[in-house]
Amino acid sequence: MTTAPGTEPPVRLRPARPGDLPACVGVWHAGLTEYGLRVGRPAMPLSSGPLLGLLGHLLATDPQGFLVAVADAADAGGAPMDADPAGAGGQVVGFVSALLREHVWFLAMLFVQPGYQERGLGRRLLSRVLAGSEDATHATCTDSAQPISNALYSRFGIMPRLPVLELVGRPRGAVAGLPGSIRAVPFELLRAGPSDGPGPLRLAASLERLDRATLGYAHPQDHDYLAAQGRLGYLYEAGDGRVVGYGYTSEVGRLGPIAVEDPGLMGPVTGHLLGSVRPAGAFSAWIPGSASGALAALLEAGLLLEDFPALVCWDRPFADFERYVPITLAVL
Ligand SMILES: CC(C)(COP(=O)(O)OP(=O)(O)OC[C@H]1O[C@@H](n2cnc3c(N)ncnc32)[C@H](O)[C@@H]1OP(=O)(O)O)[C@@H](O)C(=O)NCCC(=O)NCCS
Repeated sequence: MTTAPGTEPPVRLRPARPGDLPACVGVWHAGLTEYGLRVGRPAMPLSSGPLLGLLGHLLATDPQGFLVAVADAADAGGAPMDADPAGAGGQVVGFVSALLREHVWFLAMLFVQPGYQERGLGRRLLSRVLAGSEDATHATCTDSAQPISNALYSRFGIMPRLPVLELVGRPRGAVAGLPGSIRAVPFELLRAGPSDGPGPLRLAASLERLDRATLGYAHPQDHDYLAAQGRLGYLYEAGDGRVVGYGYTSEVGRLGPIAVEDPGLMGPVTGHLLGSVRPAGAFSAWIPGSASGALAALLEAGLLLEDFPALVCWDRPFADFERYVPITLAVL
């Protein structure tokens, strides 16, 4: 720490560039590690690959919502950060990423390097990316054990409303799946053929309709990201061919997102996704407390609750989390 307590560190904010992302990973890791140890979490390994991919997606889809805070080199002397890739002699000591998806503004990430925290930098970054979004609905996800972020966002009206539970593990045995009346159609089957053919168009239209009906907005760019990540998607069809839900699973064990028309389908779809792949390691999923069908199915399968719950925060209601399970805490 190189600034006196109570003073605002001399940092400037500027739009992020792809070359900043490794430094953002460093800030993320330092921030979470320092505060995690304080609340009794084990030290986190630094595995930057998946996070770099996610940050790249955030920057590519909402560049105007992604800012970095850069400290003068002299001030940042103690911070273990990469040099500012702009060559301006500064170091990245904080960053923010906000996404605008239709009418919903979502704070994906806000992190400040330890030593620069609790001096107004987080508020400065947040105020800057909030500017101009007054007509939007605002939302984010927080860690329930973190008073600073929950207090900061609440002061902007983005209040903690709903717990999201992390479940991890492998099914103990056979898991109940879909009723006979519901058919699972792999996205891969629909994606075969030209991109403007009937399969891809049906898939895109179904995702858009289901997302609007459950999450409250469509987000095709995030489905593209999931496809690039190799997540395996299924459309769920009723006997008459009507699409009544979708869900994703993956070889690396990530479950979700899931969207269903009828909350009664949440459990069967979750069971089907668990039974569709055998991941190398464990399954993991972030399940809103209100998605009770998914929560019950995962507990029944033997997955365990891990860590503190997260919280979904918003200023105005926008989604039906009984019928929607998010992608991650950083992108709903
Ligand atoms: C969370 C984080 C981004 C906030 O940035 P910051 O620069 O430390 O925050 P600021 O100094 O701008 O603002 C902190 C606010 O919380 C308030 N605050 C802090 N502790 C509080 C508490 N226990 N109760 C109520 N308010 C509290 C401060 O008074 C301040 O509010 P104000 O601006 O209205 O005075 C930063 O601390 C961080 O990166 N932490 C580690 C990683 C992390 O936990 N990230 C969030 C995961 S959800």
